[in-house]
Amino acid sequence: MGTVILGTGSYLPQKIVTNDDLARLVDTSDEWIRTRTGISARHVCGQDEQACNLATAAARRALAAAGVAAEEIGVIIVATMTSHTLMPSTACLVQKDLGAGNAFAYDINAACSGFLYALDLGDKYVQADHALKVLVIGTENMSSRLDWSDRNTCILFGDGAGAAVIGYREGKPGYLGSKLLSDGRLWDLLYMYAPKSSNPDIDNQGHPGTCIVMEGREVFKYAVKAMEEAVHGVLAMEGLTLDAVKLFIPHQANSRILNKLADRLQLPAERVFVNISEYGNTSAASIPIALDEAVRSGRILRDDLILICSFGGGFTWGATLIKW
Ligand code: ACO
Repeated sequence: MGTVILGTGSYLPQKIVTNDDLARLVDTSDEWIRTRTGISARHVCGQDEQACNLATAAARRALAAAGVAAEEIGVIIVATMTSHTLMPSTACLVQKDLGAGNAFAYDINAACSGFLYALDLGDKYVQADHALKVLVIGTENMSSRLDWSDRNTCILFGDGAGAAVIGYREGKPGYLGSKLLSDGRLWDLLYMYAPKSSNPDIDNQGHPGTCIVMEGREVFKYAVKAMEEAVHGVLAMEGLTLDAVKLFIPHQANSRILNKLADRLQLPAERVFVNISEYGNTSAASIPIALDEAVRSGRILRDDLILICSFGGGFTWGATLIKW
């Protein structure tokens, strides 16, 4: 209680790839992609654009919305799995570009659930030190890690970043809590390998490459069930019911997953935020982008109860409640 979101921001790269563009690369069609996924187009990084550039642009907008200067930020946490460097972290590059000289900065990786995990961490810092302001970012350059000849995966993802500045406000409920979960036993249903080992004793012949590999049908089944459980879990933790929720913001993975989840939760479409059509699945960036759009379009107002949930590789999943 007391951790509030002071401002949000998001950024999408300029370049747009439509379903028709993809149909020129792989054996697919606009009709197939739209009916199976709800996606019409996705934004994709261009020359010299990396996850860190998207993150910095989103962060600038979040800082401006919060009325907070970069030097006031004490911690920067970036959720990403598509940093172009393993070291330094994307967070350190963002810190440099923002001039946030008073912050310490690091990345976390919880795949598509990264932003919820990072937000939960940020809350812990704020609760420990009420003067602290934390910049939480989800950013992905998914297009850099796709096999553009694999129609099972290349149609699903997009690039982008979203950010939130959080801090403490006495007497405000704000961030109520999260139910965060993982199941590493299911890792091989959705994965992306790191680069090959340079150790001369290692035989890399079985290395599957560094692009995303996915068992789509299995992911679909687990995603719906897991997010439903997380939603009920966090509501039970906080002694609340779905009736109290003003807006539900699920990870934008696929509109069929979202429709099925909303059906099972018996949530009408007007209380579910969906923007997947123009962005595709932007992994750790999808929730902060959606949150920012919901705030800027007036779909979130003061005192509204917001329910957010995610699911991603690992598997990782979770749900979060915020009183705005
Ligand atoms: N275009 C045309 N045909 C395709 C394409 C494509 N892009 N991709 C697959 N197909 C074909 C398959 O080859 C198959 O053909 P066959 O019947 O001749 O063998 C047919 O379409 C059906 O394939 P399925 O994989 O069974 O299609 P499905 O209806 O399950 O849809 C999809 C595939 C969209 C990937 C679905 O399984 C899904 O949404 N899964 C969830 C995955 C997801 O969202 N992952 C995101 C990462 S995890 C997360 O963020 C939650």
